[in-house]
Amino acid sequence: MEPTQLVLLALILGAALGGLVSTLVFTSLRARDRVQAEASSEIPDGVAEVLSGMDDAAVVVDTSATILASSPPASPFGLVVGTVLPSDELKGLARSARTGETATTETMRLRRGAPPAEPRLVVVRATRISPRLTFLVLRDITEKERVEQMRRDFVANTSHELKTPVGAVSLLSEAIESAADDPEQVRIFAARLTAEAARLASLTSRIMNLSRLQAADELNDERDVAVDEIVASAVEAHAIQADSAGVTVVRGGARGLWVRGDPQILSEAIGNLVANAISYSPRGSSVGVGVKAIDGIAEIAVTDRGIGIPEGEQERVFERFYRADQARSRRTGGTGLGLSIVKHAVQRHGGEVTLWSRPGRGSTFTIRLPLVEGPAPEPTRKKRKKSRAKAALSRPAPPAPAPVNGDTP
Ligand SMILES: Nc1ncnc2c1ncn2[C@@H]1O[C@H](COP(=O)(O)OP(=O)(O)O)[C@@H](O)[C@H]1O
Ligand SMILES: [Mg+2]
Repeated sequence: MEPTQLVLLALILGAALGGLVSTLVFTSLRARDRVQAEASSEIPDGVAEVLSGMDDAAVVVDTSATILASSPPASPFGLVVGTVLPSDELKGLARSARTGETATTETMRLRRGAPPAEPRLVVVRATRISPRLTFLVLRDITEKERVEQMRRDFVANTSHELKTPVGAVSLLSEAIESAADDPEQVRIFAARLTAEAARLASLTSRIMNLSRLQAADELNDERDVAVDEIVASAVEAHAIQADSAGVTVVRGGARGLWVRGDPQILSEAIGNLVANAISYSPRGSSVGVGVKAIDGIAEIAVTDRGIGIPEGEQERVFERFYRADQARSRRTGGTGLGLSIVKHAVQRHGGEVTLWSRPGRGSTFTIRLPLVEGPAPEPTRKKRKKSRAKAALSRPAPPAPAPVNGDTP
């Protein structure tokens, strides 16, 4: 072979080799790009925008359960971009959605906020959006569950409470039938039947009141209400009860205060407190209804010197159907709903009801409601109203159970 031929051959071989190598490099680069694109942890276009407008907590996580993007409501659950999913349950759900075909849903409890916060009940739905990315949506159903539970309790308690008087009514009507020849007996049973029927009527009307108050709709008859008016009607409504129990009801404190709300509901609430104060007081004692204005709040305190409520029961007396003194409550026609109605009525008006009590010494229930100006007074009445307010402030405090040993209500 001639040297020129040899050089040519070497050139051709070199070119061919070079071509082969560059093709190889090129294709391997392409392949790497493709793999990278598939395994990319970059969130697709638009996902961040969708997340930012979501009302539910939602996040996008990668294979290591690290959060890449989140909606604003996610952060209270500790779901923050750059951190890892905070619970093993969430991690497991994300993993099974990534490996599985379909979306996965689970209900779990998650803490929202700092550790003392109540755990929330959430439904989490995980969907795979790419081989490496998973989308998680959390729906907080705590409130819904609570309402549902309350409804179940209410139905259960109510049917239980209705069973007793209904049973009594049917027993008494049987008794009347079998005592038909004895007019005296018939009269006795009939009187008891009337009492049971009245009890049943009061129970049903209270249950209806309570469920109306618990319904989420607006108060239907809202207006400026004179505290004097609702206190007077509450006291008046129980005048007969007070009389037959030998208890005097004394009204004291400020006059001319106004609150906003439904006068019927408010006066019923105060009336329930007055009714209790009378029921749980000894004959010959007195019950005080005192009104005060403090820092824009009207305080209406109903005080008795009755049997009082043990410390351990004070929280519970506001629960539906709860009676600290079962026997006495039944005897006085109690349903265990009075205070529950008071609590809901006051809460609906943006107020609160509190209790101070000592067994054997007495109780004070205090309703606090935001004060309002009251209806615009006519020019001539303006002066009178002002001086009345002044007089009210200088009047002595309402009666309270005389505390001994420095105890304060
Ligand atoms: N002024 C009070 N003094 C003592 N105990 C009271 C007083 N008010 C309420 N209670 C207790 O709280 C319970 C719940 O009150 P309430 O809801 O009005 O039901 P009730 O229909 O039994 O009166 C009562 O059964 C009673 O044990
Ligand atoms: Mg009562």
